[in-house]
Amino acid sequence: MLTIGFVLLAYLIGSISFAIVSSKLFGLPDPRTFGSKNPGATNMLRTGNKLAALTTLLGDGIKGWVAVALAIHFGLPHGLDVYGLALVVIAVTLGHMWPVFFSFYGGKGVATALGILLALDWRLGAAALGTWLLMLAAFRISSLSALTAALVAPLAAWWWLGNSPLTGSIVVLSALLIYRHKRNIADLLRGKESNVGQKAGDLE
Ligand code: G3P
Repeated sequence: MLTIGFVLLAYLIGSISFAIVSSKLFGLPDPRTFGSKNPGATNMLRTGNKLAALTTLLGDGIKGWVAVALAIHFGLPHGLDVYGLALVVIAVTLGHMWPVFFSFYGGKGVATALGILLALDWRLGAAALGTWLLMLAAFRISSLSALTAALVAPLAAWWWLGNSPLTGSIVVLSALLIYRHKRNIADLLRGKESNVGQKAGDLE
């Protein structure tokens, strides 16, 4: 029961789309209707409103952190085991990508993954965030940065957590994130992927 409760809570927390929330907050168009049509921080940046993009990045990141931190601090001491925690990691990811509150139309999971990793072990978060920032500084392509960080995260997990169910959950998280970037991967291979400076109108 405890495991089901935390997994369900994580899915519901993950289902709060901060791109859609911040679009309403800042009076901007729905991110599902412009640019890449992805409800995420990168697409919110295409509106030109940096504060809305930052709100999305922080909101989606914090919700990943909160779902996992709640399970660690209130679940583990009361009988939630490490397999249950691994399910929580997957549940909050699924909530973000297929949110029950928004007709299962969700994002690609980058900010949420960073929050999850930071909550599990700050070194995992630092490795993924460091990779993402380095790649962004070098190439200015958000999806390429996220995809590279998604490859680094399971290696970092294996390095620091070893053969744990949590490492397994991070492999699943990265696989889902890469799957959600399939359009970006196709565009990267065609040399057509947009960089972070481009506005929504440039992509139409
Ligand atoms: O935040 C997701 C990012 O990696 C790609 O977003 O809008 O360029 O498809 P987007």
